[in-house]
Amino acid sequence: MPAYPKTRLRRPRQHDFSRRLVRESTLSTDDLIWTMIVSDSVSGREAVKSLPGVERLDIDNLVKDAKRAHKLGIPAIAIFPHISSHLKDGLGTEALNTDGLVPNAIRAVKSAVPELGVIVDVALDPFTNHGHDGVMVGDEIINDITVDALADGAIILADAGADIVAPSDMMDGRVGAIRENLDKHGHHNVMIMSYAAKYASGFYGPYRDAIGTSTALKGDKRTYQMDPANSDEAIREVALDLKEGADMIMVKPGLPYLDIIHRLKSTYAVPTYAFQVSGECAMIMAAAQNGWVDEKRVILESLISFKRAGCDGVLTYFAPKAAEWLSN
Ligand code: PBG
Repeated sequence: MPAYPKTRLRRPRQHDFSRRLVRESTLSTDDLIWTMIVSDSVSGREAVKSLPGVERLDIDNLVKDAKRAHKLGIPAIAIFPHISSHLKDGLGTEALNTDGLVPNAIRAVKSAVPELGVIVDVALDPFTNHGHDGVMVGDEIINDITVDALADGAIILADAGADIVAPSDMMDGRVGAIRENLDKHGHHNVMIMSYAAKYASGFYGPYRDAIGTSTALKGDKRTYQMDPANSDEAIREVALDLKEGADMIMVKPGLPYLDIIHRLKSTYAVPTYAFQVSGECAMIMAAAQNGWVDEKRVILESLISFKRAGCDGVLTYFAPKAAEWLSN
């Protein structure tokens, strides 16, 4: 390529038409997964203070938003539960209740909007009184006992109609155990989206408020979630999850980890997703509400950066907003 003045990279930037022709990444509603919070103690809708624009929903309103998601062309939603504290215990027993909030929510959504994909976390933290993602003995999170509980929990979610189960606990061996148990129970077609590279992050704060685990949480999650300093380790985590049967992989949080997304997508070329987590959304909303950034512009910019980095889709609280903007 000849250098300046023959080459002028500003030439194709002059017009809308030529900018569109040279555009390398695109964002569409097909890329969006709407993250929603369902509650067993709210009637109607309740705002989450630390997560502007997000509400805890009762099942009726979850179904309403699911219908809205479908109307907007969003392919799937991801459901997270806010569980009353009297139902929580040290083992997260409520996660195994076939008549619990999550299976009931899945059934309600699937019967109202069967075409909409339903993704659901396989995790114990919404159900444990210590807020950890595993069974705790003393100060230790016990890996293999937790994996057994997750494999059992996945069956309840699949029986209720979940299309994709998403283990978010970072225990070793959980993807394989869940895959094996799903197959044993005839759920060969239920997909696994593994939270493959999930970091021990400060960006989960508003989510923990939203589902009511922030005050209870003892210590932190550094003995199972990844160290934000590590990248090679993400390669190993994903290799194992794929071998164990993950259909899709996820990186979490999103924006601070675009390098990880890019590296994983170039290494494995498998369906790759980012979770734009609560703290990321809260930061953007806080700045937008102060008039410091333009809300629509920075949200769409954040979403296109996930696509540019190599994502096939993004789990985000901004999904309905983005879908509305993209349709206009
Ligand atoms: C826990 C889980 C977390 C999120 C989804 N599943 C938080 C955590 O690990 O404590 C975070 C989502 C968000 O911040 O939006 N299994």
